[in-house]
Amino acid sequence: MDVELIIVASDAGVMNARQKGRELATTVGISGSDLTLMATAISEIARNIVQYAGQGEIEFHSVVRGGKRGLMIIARDRGPGIADIAQAMQDGFSTSRGMGLGLPGARRLMDDFKIVSEVGKGTTILMVKWEH
Ligand SMILES: Nc1ncnc2c1ncn2[C@@H]1O[C@H](COP(=O)(O)OP(=O)(O)O)[C@@H](O)[C@H]1O
Ligand SMILES: [Mg+2]
Repeated sequence: MDVELIIVASDAGVMNARQKGRELATTVGISGSDLTLMATAISEIARNIVQYAGQGEIEFHSVVRGGKRGLMIIARDRGPGIADIAQAMQDGFSTSRGMGLGLPGARRLMDDFKIVSEVGKGTTILMVKWEH
């Protein structure tokens, strides 16, 4: 695997991204409960794309660092963006009466997590899960 791309524009896309993530993670040595944690993070980020941006895409890359393999997930949308990232990353913060646990949860569930967002331009989230 080099790069795989899943278009996310509906619940079906959320499911596809989750399933593709599990499948590819297995090929880079991620297993057991790590698979479920990673798939949960993908679902949350994909659901946010559908809910707040309408559509976007999730890219999967196999990566290696220090002899360890990992799965890098890049989620991108050209939606409204996030004005205050620190606020959005807080447990319980939601602009939609949601649980407000998607972003902070994903950060905890993954090994690496970065978010870049610009109002009016969109949001990009990069996350990595490493093999043990
Ligand atoms: N892709 C996105 N585009 C625009 N805003 C987003 C995006 N993802 C998250 N947000 C904003 O960050 C907030 C927190 O997201 P999250 O932690 O998933 O909680 P919830 O979805 O339950 O509100 C959302 O309420 C929304 O305002
Ligand atoms: Mg959410």
